[in-house]
Amino acid sequence: MKQNSLGKEEKEKKAPPGKKILKRIAVLTSGGDCSGMNACIRSITRTALQQGIEVYGFRKGFQGVLSNDFISLDNRSVSSKIGRGGTFLQSARCLEFKTPEGLQLGYDNLIDLGIDGLAVIGGDGSLTGAQKLHEKGFPTIGIPASIDNDLFGTDMSIGTDTALNAIVHAVDMIRDTASSHDRMFIIEVMGRNCGYLALASAVACGAEAAIIPEIPTNCDIIARRLKRRFKEKKTNSIILVAEGASSASQIAEELQNKVGYDSRVSVLGHIQRGGNATVFDRILASKLGRNAVFALEEGQSGIMMTYSKGTYSSIELTEVIRQQRPLSQGLLELAGLLEN
Ligand code: F6P
Repeated sequence: MKQNSLGKEEKEKKAPPGKKILKRIAVLTSGGDCSGMNACIRSITRTALQQGIEVYGFRKGFQGVLSNDFISLDNRSVSSKIGRGGTFLQSARCLEFKTPEGLQLGYDNLIDLGIDGLAVIGGDGSLTGAQKLHEKGFPTIGIPASIDNDLFGTDMSIGTDTALNAIVHAVDMIRDTASSHDRMFIIEVMGRNCGYLALASAVACGAEAAIIPEIPTNCDIIARRLKRRFKEKKTNSIILVAEGASSASQIAEELQNKVGYDSRVSVLGHIQRGGNATVFDRILASKLGRNAVFALEEGQSGIMMTYSKGTYSSIELTEVIRQQRPLSQGLLELAGLLEN
C-alpha cells in the first residue's frame, strides 16, 4: 500500500490493455466563463472517480496552476452543479502563463502535485495554453467552451446554445416593444471576431438583417430593404450586429440617416454569458467531459474533444489553433432565404 498526497492509502493498480493507470487528474476552466462549464467539471469528476482516479480542480484557470490554488473534488462537491451558469472553479485570463517562465512554473507545479493529466475547459486562448503544456510533455486535453462558437473542429462549443437562447429571449422581448412603436432596433451581440451568435440568433428571431464580421456590411442594401418594408407597412425591424463587425450605435447612426425612421440601440452584454445551462449544453458538456477522461486514460494528449456532424470525436489542438472556423454556409443560406 502507498499513500497519496492527501494521506489516504492507495492500492497499486494494473492498467487494462490500451489504458494508462492514472492516479490523479486535474481540471480547470479558463477564459470567458459560460454556462455548461459546471456540467463539464461534474462529468470529469464523476467519470474519473468511477475509474478510481482522484480529481483536483484548479481555481481561476491557469492562475490556480501557478499559485497551487486547487481543491480536491469529490462526488459531493459537484452535486447540484449541472445546470448552474458560470464556473464554480472560477475563471481568469492569465497572462503570466503565456511567458516561458510561467509555463515552466505551471509544469513544475503539476508534476510536484503528482497530477497525471489535465483537462482544460475554455476557448482559443485557453486551448493555446493547453497545447503549450502538451508540447512540454504534460498530458493535456482541451474541451471547447465559449459562447462565441469560434473554435475550429467542433460544430458546437459548450455555452453557445445557452447564450443563443438568452439572446433569442431578449430579442423576442424587444420585438414586442418594437412593434408597438413602429421602431427599428439595432441589437449588439457578443462573439468577438466571429459572427455565429449574430447569424444564428438572427435566423431564430426572424431578424431583418445580421451584420457579421465575415461578410462586408452594406448599409445601403439593408436600408433599401427596410424602406421597402416600411412602404409595405412592416414598420418594425430588428437588426443584429456582431460586436466584431461594428457597434450597434454606429450602425444605428448610418441606418437612421438612410431610412429615416425611429430607431433604438440595445447592447445585450454579459447577460449572454450567464444563466442556467440549456439541456443541449448540459448533455454536450457531460459527454465532452467524460470523453476527455477516457482520452487521458488512453494516454492521449494535445487534442480537443469535439462534437461534429452528430458525432463525438477529437482533433489535434494544433489544428484548432491554426485554423479559423468557417462561417456556416447553411445558416447563411437560411438567413437569406427567410429574409423579407
Ligand atoms: O469570448 C467570450 C466573450 O464573451 C466575447 O464574446 C466577448 O468579446 C468577451 O468574452 C468579453 O470579455 P470580458 O468578459 O472579459 O469583457
